[in-house]
Amino acid sequence: MSKFQAPKGVSEYFPDRSRYFEFVRETLIDSARRSGYQLIELPVFEDTELFTRGVGESTDVVSKEMYTFEDRGGRSITLRPEGTAGVMRSVIEHNLDRGQLPVKVWYSGQFFRAERPQLGRYRQFYQVGIEAIGLQDPEIDAEVIAVADSAFKKLGLKNYRLEITSLGDSQTREKYTKDLRSYISTLDLDEATLARASINALRLFDDKREEVRALMAGAPVLMDYLTSESSAHFDRVKECLKEFEIDFQINNRMVRGLDYYTGTAFEFVHQGLGAQSGIGGGGRYDGLMSQLGGADLSGIGFGLGVDRILLACEAEGIQLPPNLALQLFLVPMGELAKLPAVKLAQELRVAGLSVDVAYGNRALKGAMKAADKSGALFALVLGENEIASGLAELKNMRTGDSTSVTLRTLQEDLLKLF
Ligand code: HAM
Repeated sequence: MSKFQAPKGVSEYFPDRSRYFEFVRETLIDSARRSGYQLIELPVFEDTELFTRGVGESTDVVSKEMYTFEDRGGRSITLRPEGTAGVMRSVIEHNLDRGQLPVKVWYSGQFFRAERPQLGRYRQFYQVGIEAIGLQDPEIDAEVIAVADSAFKKLGLKNYRLEITSLGDSQTREKYTKDLRSYISTLDLDEATLARASINALRLFDDKREEVRALMAGAPVLMDYLTSESSAHFDRVKECLKEFEIDFQINNRMVRGLDYYTGTAFEFVHQGLGAQSGIGGGGRYDGLMSQLGGADLSGIGFGLGVDRILLACEAEGIQLPPNLALQLFLVPMGELAKLPAVKLAQELRVAGLSVDVAYGNRALKGAMKAADKSGALFALVLGENEIASGLAELKNMRTGDSTSVTLRTLQEDLLKLF
């Protein structure tokens, strides 16, 4: 065993599972592309202040979980714990907030949070996210939710639910927070908890301790404070979701882990994952952009946890679709067959097929084992006889059946098959 191991709590994907990971990630991205989102590729580290200001100091993410260090120039740098703040920074920096609106972007990559590792909770994890900036319309809220939901359905996931809520506008929250604070002031809580509550009173709903949960059960509910405008917006989002045939449940006690949320907020929860059941979440953020120095634009987006979605697919027994498998595994038999085999493989690849070759001087049995392990859909043995006659047997690796093929037309035949 190597003396080196990956740092504690990181997720890694290597063959054969990496192919499955890739399939999940691509399916999520594909759904974003289909709704007009374009790639935004950002650094994995930013100025620490971007996150303390953007994500909020009362959050666990900022107060306990950031990977922060000083770089060689003495600047405080943080590995991105989430994607939205970085997107805002970039959109402002490149003046996209002053151009054609909305700005619709997707991103995919690693994020970092120093959490206690367990299955589905990692210190380096993967998200696919989208942000739609510069639109107030409730229809875009529904679109964002639908991008995630369509991707889950495309993957074949069934055992998940969508929870939605509205956190209201600033007027809603001002009134609500006042009442919530006076409710909290009647409770018997320790100093640290009160300090947390004084930065963001809503955080107390997120407390894991039973006794705090019990105390908060009697607290006022934000949903009862929505202004008529916020209410109408939320009603329209629900109406759209119904039109889209997307099932949802209202969760009026949802607390998102990041402070920038306003209005529509949502979470996707998978039933087969145990404690780490949140496979994605997001919502609207009204003041974030202006708080970071940009135009006063609203936005909405989500982050989907690719690691957890992969676990969810595995829990539901979802198979990798055959079109992602290697299409052909070529097995040259004997020295003379090697060059024609690699040449044929190369021609087929150029024509658009995916092809691998059994390298080395393996006996037929070993080479066929390698073909099996490769996950290829078809295998073809190329020996001196096949080269001389121009005829070979194409073996279907799933069924075990073989059919005779002419080498000259192999490319056409395979292209027709796929
Ligand atoms: P978030 O809810 O903090 O939102 O994270 C989104 C998803 O990332 C979670 O639902 C979960 O699937 C995954 N995730 C979070 N932490 C971990 C972890 N330690 N290990 C594995 N997976 C994890 C955000 O990050 C927002 N930026 C989403 C957003 C975009 N809101 C608006 N726009």
